[in-house]
Amino acid sequence: MDRRMMVAGNWKMYTTSAEGAVLVQDMARELEAVHGDVEVVVCPPFTGLKAVSTVIEYDRVPIALGAQDVFWEREGAFTGEIAPGMLTHLGCTYVIVGHSERREHFNETDEIVNRKVKAAFASGMTPIMCVGEPLAIRESGETERFVRDQVLAGAAGLETDDAARLVVAYEPIWAIGTGRTPTPESANDVARSIRATIGAMYGPPAAMQMRVLYGGSVKPENAAHFFREPDVDGALVGGASLKAGSFVEIVKAATR
Ligand code: 13P
Repeated sequence: MDRRMMVAGNWKMYTTSAEGAVLVQDMARELEAVHGDVEVVVCPPFTGLKAVSTVIEYDRVPIALGAQDVFWEREGAFTGEIAPGMLTHLGCTYVIVGHSERREHFNETDEIVNRKVKAAFASGMTPIMCVGEPLAIRESGETERFVRDQVLAGAAGLETDDAARLVVAYEPIWAIGTGRTPTPESANDVARSIRATIGAMYGPPAAMQMRVLYGGSVKPENAAHFFREPDVDGALVGGASLKAGSFVEIVKAATR
């Protein structure tokens, strides 16, 4: 099974809408020199989605648009929240769900993550569901068990077709924004175990089709090492996705 490689940029709480529009224009220019089949996704803050989607549409930029979060209700009195249909209306086809920063600072539980994953699929978007262990779990050797439990809960109750489309981003918390990373082999071990968990839940065909990204201090210098691993289908990039040059270098490393 040849899974399409994916490089997704999580811009986090950086860029105004004007800065986001310029950034995606710069990326588009640099991507012209890249040949190879990689799915490129950018995830600006909510306030930048309209401006970035306008650039993508008018300049026919081969970049897909994603949001960084979504609420699960279709509409209602939920001040401050954003519904799935509001995102699809702006052209979002992906949405990050359950990022560790949301789990940590906004108390998102696996149950909340699961509701958001289901709501994303119900609206036609593909969730990029984030999982990953804190340092203490890594040091106790419990990483695979910890991540398996996050996948079992976060990806529960899906249609098999949706499970096959799911993207899981494995982001060890201690590797995010720190410059530290697991070895590519160790990232692959966790990616393989995530795929096996989806296989146990939804069967081998779904497991073979779903994609697992690695995230956490991915840079142009180390990206290729992760992309060489058989169960790693791309990357979710934070800091290095805020500069067109470094982001596109990572996209290049994913072409094969
Ligand atoms: P960094 O690439 O900045 O470590 O961030 C990773 C991340 O959290 C992407 O979602």
